[in-house]
Amino acid sequence: MFTKLFVPVLLVSSAVIPAFSLPAPLSPSRIFVRDNQGDNNSTQGNGNCSTSQNVVYLNDTASRFPDLVYLAAGNQDFRSAVANSSNPNLLQDLTTNGQHPEYLFLGCSDSRVSEGTIFSAPPGALFTQRNIGNQFQPVDNNAISVLSYGVQSLGVGHIIVMGHYGCGGVAAAMLPRPNTTDDPSRSSVQSWINPIRYTYLNSSRPEIVSFREANENKTSVDYPKFDDPGFRALVEENVKDSVFNILISPMMQQHWNAYIAQEQGQNGTTSSTRRSSDSSAPLKPVYVHGFVYDISTGYVTDLKTSFGPYGAVSQAPPQDAVKRAVAADQHAHGHVHL
Ligand SMILES: *[C@@H]1O[C@H](CO)[C@@H](O)[C@H](O)[C@H]1NC(C)=O
Ligand SMILES: *[C@@H]1O[C@H](CO)[C@@H](O)[C@H](O)[C@H]1NC(C)=O
Ligand SMILES: *[C@@H]1O[C@H](CO)[C@@H](O)[C@H](O)[C@H]1NC(C)=O
Ligand SMILES: *[C@@H]1O[C@H](CO)[C@@H](O)[C@H](O)[C@H]1NC(C)=O
Ligand SMILES: *[C@@H]1O[C@H](CO)[C@@H](O)[C@H](O)[C@H]1NC(C)=O
Ligand SMILES: *[C@@H]1O[C@H](CO)[C@@H](O)[C@H](O)[C@H]1NC(C)=O
Ligand SMILES: *[C@@H]1O[C@H](CO)[C@@H](O)[C@H](O)[C@H]1NC(C)=O
Ligand SMILES: *[C@@H]1O[C@H](CO)[C@@H](O)[C@H](O)[C@H]1NC(C)=O
Ligand SMILES: *[C@@H]1O[C@H](CO)[C@@H](O)[C@H](O)[C@H]1NC(C)=O
Ligand SMILES: [Zn+2]
Repeated sequence: MFTKLFVPVLLVSSAVIPAFSLPAPLSPSRIFVRDNQGDNNSTQGNGNCSTSQNVVYLNDTASRFPDLVYLAAGNQDFRSAVANSSNPNLLQDLTTNGQHPEYLFLGCSDSRVSEGTIFSAPPGALFTQRNIGNQFQPVDNNAISVLSYGVQSLGVGHIIVMGHYGCGGVAAAMLPRPNTTDDPSRSSVQSWINPIRYTYLNSSRPEIVSFREANENKTSVDYPKFDDPGFRALVEENVKDSVFNILISPMMQQHWNAYIAQEQGQNGTTSSTRRSSDSSAPLKPVYVHGFVYDISTGYVTDLKTSFGPYGAVSQAPPQDAVKRAVAADQHAHGHVHL
């Protein structure tokens, strides 16, 4: 996962307990200060930069924070790519007509798993939720909101859960849980990956069992190698868990019930199950897929764990659908090189 930030913290924590003690806290006024360097206009730097007279472009900020130059340049390239594409009005069109993404994407926060880049997808294609370990936890109001808005309001046709080999969140779940009692931030990460840890501890998949048995009762476990079969298998099982949690979520159950009623001519849909953006539009079947991305090759593979409403027949394999849509949208994609 995060090669620079995330992994070392989790790695260190796994090897030795306790890993470190936190420094004594400073008073809030000593922790952060607004950066006004280079800003000689006192009306700037107060956060009111949204009006056209007072706008601060990223390229100007980048002259003060050189690390941001790459973002400014990338944004410039993106705008040029759109302007030079066969659909130069893409951004205005999406603003005027609203977004109608066909896909809802649930992926990992890992910087190597950027969905717009991986699928060469332009703005408007993917409604997205990303978190550590691409999890759909049934109590996560954030993910539930994204699912609900994506399906009910935007009318996505496909929900894609995509894990990735080499996921740091999954790897951390295979290591002994460190004692994070005195460290709220690491404690949050450990709590968040707990469901993956449960899958690791309970799975009967042979590759995972092998890894588990080889490391049973060890206080220190080596970080799993990228190609470790148990690591890869847990990445896949974790995707299936999220797919399953989406399937059994009240929101999807409600949607599919309404869809089936609609197809059976029962007119069972209510205003709450119809898409709010177009209350007369028929409900779509909505399919849920489990994919895995290989960060070392760029390939996306299908775990063949696709689900849809009872009775509906999908018209094409989902990856073909993704490919077709990407091809159709390709005219407008931007290249962001960070
Ligand atoms: C602000 O003033 C300083 C010193 O007068 C000058 O070096 C700097 O370039 C100015 N910054 C901007 C953004 O004008
Ligand atoms: C600028 O922002 C500050 C803080 O949010 C606010 O108090 C002030 O009224 C704003 N000024 C203008 C001109 O909008
Ligand atoms: C500071 O910026 C504001 C907004 O752009 C502008 O109206 C004002 O004249 C500027 N003041 C100075 C001293 O440059
Ligand atoms: C930054 O971008 C704005 C908007 O495109 C442009 O007007 C300005 O000249 C640029 N500034 C620099 C320092 O390149
Ligand atoms: C189109 O692309 C060319 C070269 O890639 C670039 O120089 C030019 O600025 C772009 N046009 C626009 C409108 O961004
Ligand atoms: C975890 O750390 C806390 C605080 O350092 C300590 O009180 C507690 O006993 C530790 N728990 C275990 C299981 O080692
Ligand atoms: C998985 O294992 C953990 C720890 O052994 C346990 O607390 C949890 O209830 C188990 N979950 C399932 C779904 O079996
Ligand atoms: C691990 O610990 C449990 C409980 O103490 C024990 O039953 C088991 O045999 C141990 N496994 C190994 C591989 O040492
Ligand atoms: C369902 O609603 C449609 C359109 O309002 C209507 O034409 C159709 O007869 C209804 N079907 C049933 C079974 O009520
Ligand atoms: Zn990850």
